[in-house]
Amino acid sequence: MKFKKNILCIGAGYVGGPTMAMIASKCPDYRVTVVDINPERINAWNSHDLPVYEPGLDKIIKKTRGKNLFFSNNIEKAITENDIIFVSVHTPTKTFGEGAGKAPDLQYWEKTARQILENSKSSKIVIEKSTLPVKTAAAMEKILAPAKGKIKFEVLSNPEFLAEGTAIKDLENPDRVLIGSRDTKNGLKARQELVNIYSRWVPKEKIITTNIWSSELSKLVSNAFLAQRVSSINSISALCEKTEADVSEVAKAVGMDSRIGSKFLQAGIGFGGSCFKKDILHLAYLCEYYGLPEVAAYWESVVKMNEYQQQRFITNILGSMFNTLAGKRICVFGFAFKANTGDTRESPATYITRKLLAEQALVTISDPKALKNAALDLADIDENVKYEEDPYKAVAGCHAIAILTDWNIYRNLDFRKIYKSMIKPAFLFDGRNIVDHAKCFKIGFNVYPIGKPAMSHFKTTQKANSNSR
Ligand code: NAD
Ligand code: UGA
Repeated sequence: MKFKKNILCIGAGYVGGPTMAMIASKCPDYRVTVVDINPERINAWNSHDLPVYEPGLDKIIKKTRGKNLFFSNNIEKAITENDIIFVSVHTPTKTFGEGAGKAPDLQYWEKTARQILENSKSSKIVIEKSTLPVKTAAAMEKILAPAKGKIKFEVLSNPEFLAEGTAIKDLENPDRVLIGSRDTKNGLKARQELVNIYSRWVPKEKIITTNIWSSELSKLVSNAFLAQRVSSINSISALCEKTEADVSEVAKAVGMDSRIGSKFLQAGIGFGGSCFKKDILHLAYLCEYYGLPEVAAYWESVVKMNEYQQQRFITNILGSMFNTLAGKRICVFGFAFKANTGDTRESPATYITRKLLAEQALVTISDPKALKNAALDLADIDENVKYEEDPYKAVAGCHAIAILTDWNIYRNLDFRKIYKSMIKPAFLFDGRNIVDHAKCFKIGFNVYPIGKPAMSHFKTTQKANSNSR
C-alpha cells in the first residue's frame, strides 16, 4: 500500500509507543515507524509481551502493528526515509557535573538531533515530544543549522500530556493538544502538517497553537501545577492528623469550589512517577538560571513537601509499631507509582521500602503489574524482600500492611480473612486512603490512614499518627 505520509518517532518508551500507536490507529493512511537504541525494547514492542502496561494498549497495537505501525532498531535508515520526526527520548535529571540533581540531562536529546542531521537527505519537520526546558528548540535549531544544500529543518514543540495508567484514554480524548511553532512561513506550514494529523480525531477547538517557547514552558508548568496540588493537600493532611479534621472531607469541601476543582486533591504518600519531580526541578533550575531565586525556591518547596510526606509515613509506621521494626514482616500492597501501570520510576514505594529495610524489617511486596520492576529497583538490597503477586499469600504471617498504590484490587479484599492470617496486633497503614477504615478497625486492625484520626485498639495509645518519637 502507498502511504500518504511517513512518520517516525525516536524513542519507544512510555510516551513514544502509545502515542504512535494512537496516531497509527487514527491515520491508517500514514506509515508510522518507532525506533529505539535499546534492542530489547524494540523486540518487546514486536512481541506479545509489550514493554509498557497500559489498559487498552495491546488492543490498539494488535490493530496497527505490521499494517501501518512498525518498531525497528534501524535508526539511521528510518531517519532517511521519514520526513516528520517526533523525538520522544527521555530527559532525566543530571546526576553529574554542573546542575547535578536539578538540571535536565539533555545528552539523549542532543545525540538524537545530531543523528537526524547526519542521516537526513531531505528537509524534515522535527517535533519535540519529550518534555524540555524552554528554549531547547533554539539549541536544536543550532545543531541542525549546518545541514547541507537545500535541506531545511523546522522544529516544532508538541508536548505530551498523557498520564500513565490512562494513556490510551488520554490520547484518544485529550483535554488539549498543544503545538508550538515559529511564526514564519515554514514554521506555520510545518505546524499545519501536525494539526492535520491530530484533527483526524481531536476536535479543532482542542488543538491549540502557540509560539514555540510558550509551548515548551506550558508543559513544565502543567506538571508543576498538578504536583503542587498534591503537595498542598498532603501538607494539609499533616495538619488534619493533629487536629482531628479529616483530609477527605476537607478536600471534598475545598474541591467543590468550581474555581478550585476536585481533581488532584487525593492525599497520600506523595507523588511519584518519572516526571513530576524532575520537571519541577528543571523548572526551578531554569528560574535560577534566569536570576529568579525566589521563584525557584517556591517550586522546589513542592518537592520538599513530597519528601516530607514520605518521611512522615515511615516515621508513623515506626512510632505506631513500638519504635522497632527489626525482624517484623511488613507486607507492601502496591509498588507501582500509581494504579494501572507497572512503572515504578520515582515510586514512593521505593523510598518507603528502603527505609523499612534500613530498620531491619522483613518486607513482602505484592503488586499486580510491578513486581518485575520492583525486583530491579531493589536488586542491591533485597536480601530480606519477598515478592508475591497474590495479596492473600503475601500477607500471611505479617505484622503489618502498608498500602502504597491505589490499585482497585486492594479496595475490596477480604480483610477478615487477611486479619486471621496475620500476627497480632495487626497494623494497617493506608497510604492511599482506599480501604474502609472503620470496617478494618472493627475486624481488629489498628488502622492508620493519611490525614484522618488513627483507629487504635491500644488502651494507652501512643499518639496515633504522631510524628514525634
Ligand atoms: P522512556 O525512558 O520510557 O523512553 C525513552 C526511550 O528513548 C528509551 O526507550 C530509550 O532507549 C530511548 N532513547 C534514548 N536515546 C535515544 C536515541 N539517541 N535514539 C533512539 N532512542 C533513544 O521515557 P518516557 O517515559 O517515554 O518519556 C519520554 C519523554 O516524554 C520525557 O521527556 C518525559 O518527560 C516525557 N513525558 C513522559 C510521560 C510519561 O507518562 N512517561 C508523559 C508525558 C511526557
Ligand atoms: C503526570 C501528568 O498527570 C500528565 O499530564 C503528564 O503528561 C505526565 O505526568 C508526565 O509528564 O509524565 P503521571 O505521572 O503518569 O502523569 O500520573 P499522575 O496521575 O499525574 O500521578 C502522579 C503521581 O501523583 C502518582 O504517584 C499519583 O499517585 C499521585 N497523585 C495524583 C496523588 O498522590 N494524589 C492525587 O490526587 C493525584
